[in-house]
Amino acid sequence: MSEALRVGIAGLGTVGASVARVLSDKAAELTRQCGRTIVVAGVSARDKSRDRGVDVSGAQWFDDPIELAKWDGIDVFVELIGGDEGAARSSVKAALEAGHHVVTANKALLAKHGLELAGLAEKKGVLLNYEAAVAGGIPIIKTMREAMAGNTVTRVFGILNGTCNYILTRMEAEGISFEECLKDAQRLGYAEADPTFDIEGQDTAHKLAILTSLAFGSKIAADDIYLEGISNITQADIRAASELGYRIKLLGVAVRTETGIEQRVHPTMVPTASVIAQVHGVTNAVAVETDILGELLLSGPGAGGNATASAVVGDVADIAKSRPGFQHGPVFGRPVKELSPYKKARMRSHAGGYFIRLTVHDRIGVFAAIAKRMADSDISLESIVQHSDGTDTAAQKTVILVTHETTEAAVRKAVDGITKDGHLVDKPQVIRIERAA
Ligand SMILES: NC(=O)c1ccc[n+]([C@@H]2O[C@H](COP(=O)([O-])OP(=O)(O)OC[C@H]3O[C@@H](n4cnc5c(N)ncnc54)[C@H](OP(=O)(O)O)[C@@H]3O)[C@@H](O)[C@H]2O)c1
Repeated sequence: MSEALRVGIAGLGTVGASVARVLSDKAAELTRQCGRTIVVAGVSARDKSRDRGVDVSGAQWFDDPIELAKWDGIDVFVELIGGDEGAARSSVKAALEAGHHVVTANKALLAKHGLELAGLAEKKGVLLNYEAAVAGGIPIIKTMREAMAGNTVTRVFGILNGTCNYILTRMEAEGISFEECLKDAQRLGYAEADPTFDIEGQDTAHKLAILTSLAFGSKIAADDIYLEGISNITQADIRAASELGYRIKLLGVAVRTETGIEQRVHPTMVPTASVIAQVHGVTNAVAVETDILGELLLSGPGAGGNATASAVVGDVADIAKSRPGFQHGPVFGRPVKELSPYKKARMRSHAGGYFIRLTVHDRIGVFAAIAKRMADSDISLESIVQHSDGTDTAAQKTVILVTHETTEAAVRKAVDGITKDGHLVDKPQVIRIERAA
């Protein structure tokens, strides 16, 4: 049997401790699968005295993860610290520079510095594996990087944040407010004490940026993503969506258009009968549309110690199975020099259907004025209804519009016009509709 693969794990929190546990509990099975043993040779975290629920006393302890990254006692450096700068970035760079393979679950790091790190990995002829960075336990990176050769991807979209999907699922199922659901999510450990990063869409954006690069062979552009979170979704939206045959999901969507690539993260209405609409709670899902394959949808656990560890261990096992001299596949599916510059499609050119909810003063002529603004913007309406869900009063009414395919620019122009007309009691709500099988 070949020599053991020596692993250094930096970060022994939720994911790191689970990875150490799986490598220990499944050691015999992994040895059979990989043809060699995988040993945890070194570990690093901040607090050496903390009980991690797993025995790592056989591994050498490093206070400084950079020292572990450079140590010649490892073959693979597993970064599970988190964050796009600081210890995570420095240690990953140090490991690559030392010629060690790297496995990471760190989407923030890859979204910001992925190209630089991929370039370094290529230069050093080592692997940079990151299956756990997007959609946790779902093997979407491997699928897109390896199993779709020759396919031309037209769109990739998904539910990439379990916290948001949990909140939206409960809002719909139980008729409770966003704030109430968020508090429960925090109590159950599904949301951070500061949930901004999740609920305002940044976490989804990081994962989407990685998927976009894999899908379209373009350079990562995490700062060029249109972003809207879920904090202004109300029960009125959820109920109206349901009556119209839609469900609201926070989606990350990347589409190749004639003018460039659209990358957007926003609350989205998907048909209730579509597969992605059936993805509930903390579960994640990623759909990829290609010319050869059609639409593929993978769904499964997107976070949590075990699910994430499953992806990390899979990445480590791939390295254990690889042999010296075997040419490793490029980090983002093609060599860095082959990645095309990212060409952004303007959000104003986005084409699709729209849901528009307006709370208006109950006056004669309001309906006609709204219809005129829509017509002036060349927007064809699928429906316009006065909607009563119990929140209307004698003085104000809710009007729901659903458009046929139109553009973002046209919708913005029409809604600005309606706002200027002075008929609105409240801020208008606009939610994009996404086609989904
Ligand atoms: N949690 C999930 O479900 C999940 C899912 C997918 C991806 N991820 C990604 O996985 C990574 C780890 O997440 P996590 O949830 O496991 O985080 P976590 O529970 O907060 O663990 C972070 C670990 O890093 C250690 N650490 C922090 N700063 C350090 C430093 N300067 N030097 C050495 N060690 C340091 C901490 O040490 P102490 O324990 O001593 O404080 C802790 O063990 C992140 O990139 C995250 O985005 C997580």
